[in-house]
Amino acid sequence: MPAEELIGKLDGLGSEFAQALVSLSSEQDIRELQAQFLGKKGRVSALMREMGKLPPDTRRVVGAAFNRVKDGIAGAVDGKLDELVKVAEAADLERTIDVSLPGRVRSAGHVHLLTQVRNEAVAIFGELGFEVAEGPQIENDFNNFEALGFAKDHPARDEQDTFFVDDGKLLLRTHTSPVQIRTMLSQEPPIKIVAPGAVYRRDDDPTHSPMFWQIEGLLIDEQVRFSDLKGVLLHFVKRYFGEDLDIRFRPSFFPFVEPGAEVDMQCSFCTDSDSSKCRVCKGTTWVEIAGAGMVDPVVLTHCKIDPERYTGFAFGMGLERMAMLRYGVSDIKNFYEGDMRFLTQF
Ligand code: DAH
Repeated sequence: MPAEELIGKLDGLGSEFAQALVSLSSEQDIRELQAQFLGKKGRVSALMREMGKLPPDTRRVVGAAFNRVKDGIAGAVDGKLDELVKVAEAADLERTIDVSLPGRVRSAGHVHLLTQVRNEAVAIFGELGFEVAEGPQIENDFNNFEALGFAKDHPARDEQDTFFVDDGKLLLRTHTSPVQIRTMLSQEPPIKIVAPGAVYRRDDDPTHSPMFWQIEGLLIDEQVRFSDLKGVLLHFVKRYFGEDLDIRFRPSFFPFVEPGAEVDMQCSFCTDSDSSKCRVCKGTTWVEIAGAGMVDPVVLTHCKIDPERYTGFAFGMGLERMAMLRYGVSDIKNFYEGDMRFLTQF
């Protein structure tokens, strides 16, 4: 092929390349096109081999033409790539979503204060060997009242009014004490349980709610004494409320224990010097925390446990009351309203 024709073909390839380049919009397509022309098996390279057949004196001119076309192609590629980068940058700037903003963090939340109190109480009694027992919130009259010594017309029933259904045979349990009955009917002594759970009563004021939580304790074995009860509750108060707090027992009546007592602990909100102003203990330096006593032999008999062989103690505490005393919460409604300003403090 004569030199002129070769140069003509070369220039033709140059403009063909430039035309094909115009419509491309990705770097990959551009590189592919470049290889079709300048690659080892490319169209420009094929012409290059023709140059070898030319007489030496014409090779120089043709060689210069090759360089011109190659440089032209390389320059066009660079220019086109620059152009693509600019287009991408402009599109980035037009975006209205700022992908570089940090994301919104969702907080994981935490366990409700009353659940924390329950878990902690269960753990402390667990250290003393008490296992968790549970019962249903819808109870029958026998477990909630009858077996616990509340006969049908017993005046102690008045303090525990609740919802009754099915002619009074079923009710929303008024305390966790029926779990004592369920456990004694299904297990042989020795028995050592705590039963946390929701209970229901017709009560509604700043320290009482129609639904609230209790934790019940029951220990039945041979040779169980009142001092064992005292030791367990004292240990609990020290672990939960404070090492330096003492407890005291006041005689009281519950149909299912004999003797029965109300248990007070020393008020942790006042010191003796200014106790008269204390709103928590109303100047008495003691606050009530539990009902307790020795399980009445009648209850053991109801549950087919021999009262000649076994004795035991029981206690019941309100979880809301424990939380109020430990954290100084003055209105029980705070626990149920779901106000995050309150809940996130604990
Ligand atoms: N069940 C009683 C109540 O809710 C509290 C109670 C008192 C539980 C004495 C006991 C106990 O186990 O021995 O008022």
